[in-house]
Formats: sequence, C-alpha cells, structure tokens
Amino acid sequence: SFVIKNGDLVERTEAAIDIEDRGYQFGDGVYEVIRVYNGKMFTGSEHIDRLWSSASSIGIKIPYTKEELQSQLQQLIQKNQLVLGTVYLQFTRGISPRKHPFPTDDVVPTFIAYTREVDRPVSKLQSGVKAMITDDIRWLRCDIKSLNLLGNLLANQKAAEAGCDEAVLHRDGRVTEGSHSNVSIVKQGEVYTHPANHFILNGISRQLMLAICHKEGIKVNEQAFTLEELSKADEIFLTGTTVEVMPVVELEGTPVGGGKPGELTLKLQELFKQEIE
Ligand code: PDD
Repeated sequence: SFVIKNGDLVERTEAAIDIEDRGYQFGDGVYEVIRVYNGKMFTGSEHIDRLWSSASSIGIKIPYTKEELQSQLQQLIQKNQLVLGTVYLQFTRGISPRKHPFPTDDVVPTFIAYTREVDRPVSKLQSGVKAMITDDIRWLRCDIKSLNLLGNLLANQKAAEAGCDEAVLHRDGRVTEGSHSNVSIVKQGEVYTHPANHFILNGISRQLMLAICHKEGIKVNEQAFTLEELSKADEIFLTGTTVEVMPVVELEGTPVGGGKPGELTLKLQELFKQEIE
C-alpha cells in the first residue's frame, strides 16, 4: 500500500525513517487517528484543527496549510482505495543529532501518514465491553495528542491482562478518561464527563456526543466524577474514533446497570451512527 512521507505518496517499503528522528528517539511529535467511512474522512477538519493546536503547544510548525494537508490525506485514501478504516498521521520535530534542546529552525518536521482497513466494532457496540480501573500516571498535558503514550500503554496492557477492553484512569479518585477513549457516565438521565482541560484529550467523538446531547435536550455536565460515582452509575460509556459510543457493561468484574448496554447509551450510539451515514 501507499503512504505519505513528507508530502510524497510512496510505497510503504520506500518510506524509511532516520534513527535520529526525534519522534523515534524522544517521542517528540504529535499525531491523529481519523476515521474513514465510505471513502471519506469523518470529522476530518476537527482532527486537523486539533493537530494544529497539539503541534503549536509544543512548538512544531507544520509546513502545510490545513487545506493542503486535508487534500493530501484524501489523495492517500483514494490511492489506497480505502472505504472503511482509519488514517494515521504524525509530525515529529525532525532529524538532528540527539540532544534535548530543540534543533535550529532549518530542521523540518518529519511527516508520515498511512491508512488501514478497520471495521466498525459492530458486535461490541451491541454487547458492550468490560473495563477496569487504574491510576492515571500520565503527565499534566494530556490535552496534547503527543506521541508519548507510555502511560496510556501501561494502563491498557493492565486492562488487556485483566481481559478488559479499556482502563478507566483516575487521579486521586477522580475519573479523567480511558487509556484510548473518553469516559462518560449516566445518572438519572444526565450525562457526566470530565471537563476539557489539561487532564484529558478533548476527543472529537466526545465533542460530537456533547453536541448530540445538546441538540436532543439531554442534560450534560462537564464535571469530573469520582470512582464512587462511577461504580454507582446507571450507565457507563466510552467515546473515541474507533470505539464510537461504546457501552461498558462490566467494571472491575461487577455488572454495570444490570450488565446490559444502557438505554441512553444506545440512543447516543444510534444518533452518532446517523452522523456517519
Ligand atoms: N485515541 N483519550 C485518549 C487518551 C485517546 O487516545 C483518544 C483517541 C481519545 C478519543 O479521542 P477521539 O474521539 O478524538 O478519537 C480520548 C486514538 C484513536 C488512538 O490513539 O488510537
């Protein structure tokens, strides 16, 4: 298949990365994962806006306009004849001898993008998934979609070892988000989710879910909730590019709301799906 390397469409096997690329050595870069439905990027411009804000937060200058980047990605999708899947893209601070300070301005960011076929998780969307709870040991700028994902990976590995799909993270008993998704609960017909600040990634799917709630007159509280409130929630669900609106039916081995996907969760899932079509 084809990939993009610094703006050029090339065969994947031709795209080599230098061993002193700062992304490879330091995780010094930012990324996005964008859903492709029907051969088109879903909420592409929102992802690209977030990429710009992640990059500017760490002082990486993307050498394209947003429109140029969007059209490069769409060309890649067409070239690979991708209908249903994802586009992954990342910008690193570029290649330079390994030293902590940023290199001089003549060092250009390294850009790669590639596509992958990914089905919608249809059976899990119906049955729901299991989750476990673990400490949020990540840094204090989780709003930046940085390549540094060790805190997320360690949490997700714990979840996998416990037979769970997701790890719900908390700081001192307050739930922040999941290892690779945002977490919301439903209590007495109202949605609660952590506010968009430095402690979470402001998910594009999270924002879409909130917009759907506003449109439908479902009350939402962008307010952190505790582990106790999580364990007593009527419903728990995840949002994310690949998980969409995913019911959590078991938490730490205990059934959530009777062990079946919640009513409001399924309604939001359906309304989300209508946005795709
Ligand atoms: N993960 N929180 C974290 C920590 C994430 O990594 C993600 C996305 C989300 C949801 O964001 P969005 O709705 O914009 O996809 C929340 C991507 C898909 C990943 O790293 O694979």
